Amino acid sequence: MFVSTSSSSNDDNVVYLASLCQSCHGSDGKSHGLIPSLSGYNKQKFIDYFSIIAKTENRFNVMHKIAKGYTKDEIISMAEYFSNLKD
Ligand code: HEC
Repeated sequence: MFVSTSSSSNDDNVVYLASLCQSCHGSDGKSHGLIPSLSGYNKQKFIDYFSIIAKTENRFNVMHKIAKGYTKDEIISMAEYFSNLKD
């Protein structure tokens, strides 16, 4: 499924990373429930949220577990990707 014939670009990678978030946050970044929407999300706010939540020892917060799993570069790529999605 995720096997690419061309050399894998950063763009392909961020679409794949973002798709893992969208099961909870909505399929196109638009949430329809209680979980906040990520489309058009402020880039700096996104980066700040990830760095804070990753450090917060709260095992009941699902985002704590998730945020720990990404590198700084991946977080920046996702911040750019979601901030550019239209509402
Ligand atoms: C298992 C479900 C789930 C997955 C998967 C998930 N999230 Fe979340 N996310 C949540 C929930 C629930 C909250 C609200 C947490 C809270 O308020 O304490 C949240 C909150 C957030 C927020 C803060 C929104 C705000 O302004 O309050 C951001 C940003 C975010 N998630 C980004 C992501 C990204 C990026 C991914 C993929 C790497 C992701 N989430 C994957 C459930 C999920």
